[in-house]
Amino acid sequence: MKISRRNLFKLSATAGLTAFTASAFSPLVGLVNVAQANPLKSSKVKPFNFAVIGDAHLYEAPNHRFDKTLERAVSDVVKMRPKPDFVVFIGDLANFGKKEELLKGKKILDRLKKAGIPYKIIPGEHDWYLDLGKFWKELFGSPYWSFNHNGVHFIGLNSILVEDYWTAKGMTPWERMLAIAELECHVCGLWGVGEKQIRWLEKDVKNLSPDTPIVIFTHSPLWNYYPRWNFQTKDADAIRQILSKFEKVIAIHGHVHQVVYNRTDNMVHIGNLATSWPWPYPPVELPYPQIVMNRADPGDIYDGVGFATTYIDDTFLGLLKYKEWADLIPKDLKNGISL
Ligand SMILES: [Fe+2]
Ligand SMILES: [Fe+2]
Repeated sequence: MKISRRNLFKLSATAGLTAFTASAFSPLVGLVNVAQANPLKSSKVKPFNFAVIGDAHLYEAPNHRFDKTLERAVSDVVKMRPKPDFVVFIGDLANFGKKEELLKGKKILDRLKKAGIPYKIIPGEHDWYLDLGKFWKELFGSPYWSFNHNGVHFIGLNSILVEDYWTAKGMTPWERMLAIAELECHVCGLWGVGEKQIRWLEKDVKNLSPDTPIVIFTHSPLWNYYPRWNFQTKDADAIRQILSKFEKVIAIHGHVHQVVYNRTDNMVHIGNLATSWPWPYPPVELPYPQIVMNRADPGDIYDGVGFATTYIDDTFLGLLKYKEWADLIPKDLKNGISL
């Protein structure tokens, strides 16, 4: 007999163990009130929704299960009412940076455009290190950008740039790609955005007033979560410093493939779900409040994966909803958390 997650929870509860209760048969939505304190006094935000999809890790093979989960995220977004104003894809569209993988991903994401929903995209390490971003840039343009929408300033950065670890070792492009594709790459070093983007960011926000609502997207977190797995961005301190003049900043990242939350000074940091697989939590103490997903069922391709939507209201209070397809998200997220 297969023990369903629901049964397992019942059993756990009966045994007196701590258990998250969750419905196995309806999509559970986890809510994280990403900025419930200190609404901006002078905000001129016009309320809207946007969605965040990421870490699709598409393979070249046709009809791969990761195609299905990305397609499902895209079709869920297309069906959303009210329609999201746009989508941000937060990196790792491909698994090995191959043209076929990136092209397949673009084709799936372009369904958003066909439905009248524009999308922006930043790269992940899996998109980049076969040809150092050449084909990605041909397909998608600049890997860092900013735009204004309904009174909010949105920024996307390429946070996966490393020092050259391949030339001295005589690595082929494929060897370079395989090395960084490991969760724990021993030769790659820490990655970040680099000097050029730091200077660009300074200029980008220079003339914005401190009460401007800011949302920033990076593939990796803008805090030191677990550097050993590059759950970090090495110049995050410089980025946070540049953004410190703003009253409030919402930072959304991919790469960790899991629910995680942190707060640093004026910034709220939220980890996005992957559409491919959930990573385990690294062996470190999580920030408060600690939010840990239940362990995914490896036999269920929809367990532990999904995407997120964010509603921004007229005081720049954000409400992030994890949209997952199984019952992995703890129930306490359904009613929000105090930040
Ligand atoms: Fe990823
Ligand atoms: Fe990644």
